Amino acid sequence: MKNIVTIGGSNSKNSINKILAEYVGGLVQNVNLVKVDLNNYEMPLFSVDVEAEKGFSEGVLALNEVIDKADGFVISLAEHNGAYSVAFKNAFDWLSRINGEVWRKKPMLLMATSPGPRGGKSVLEIALGRFPFNGGNIVGNLSFPSFFENFKNEEISNKELASEVKKMISDLEKAL
Ligand SMILES: Cc1cc2nc3c(=O)[nH]c(=O)nc-3n(C[C@H](O)[C@H](O)[C@H](O)COP(=O)(O)O)c2cc1C
Repeated sequence: MKNIVTIGGSNSKNSINKILAEYVGGLVQNVNLVKVDLNNYEMPLFSVDVEAEKGFSEGVLALNEVIDKADGFVISLAEHNGAYSVAFKNAFDWLSRINGEVWRKKPMLLMATSPGPRGGKSVLEIALGRFPFNGGNIVGNLSFPSFFENFKNEEISNKELASEVKKMISDLEKAL
């Protein structure tokens, strides 16, 4: 069975991006879902000096191994001041030092959500522009606005968003 790795690009315990990534990942048929919680992968704040002096932490190596085994990704990014959360950027920077092709050219659904109406559009644009330089093979993307209005009772309550997600899932399944 293929491994789909879900990542919420945040270290909040109740991350809405983690909820969205895992929900959407759960819609992919006949796959093994590997749910990454960034809190489970300890790593210091990236610095070239820490890297030179201490090398890679166990957390970075473990996360890199999860990614090595991935056949596809469902990622949803938190937006902090218009950009990646520190936790995600830190992991991304560390991972890129092990293998610049962080996403291994495996098919990816890339999303962002926030409680506000812009739905993390800014961070999504940043990642859409950048990930292809790190082996990103983005087969679908979605900015999911006003999370708490559009995701209720553990499912997508907005019909248009639900149908966009359905289409993305089908594109991901074809690309796997
Ligand atoms: C430091 C900080 C900066 C934020 N900046 C933005 C922002 O630029 N745009 C936005 O839509 N939401 C912003 N938010 C609100 C986040 O979208 C909200 O906290 C969301 O729940 C983060 O996703 P998460 O639950 O997956 O961590 C910010 C929150 C914090 C704590």
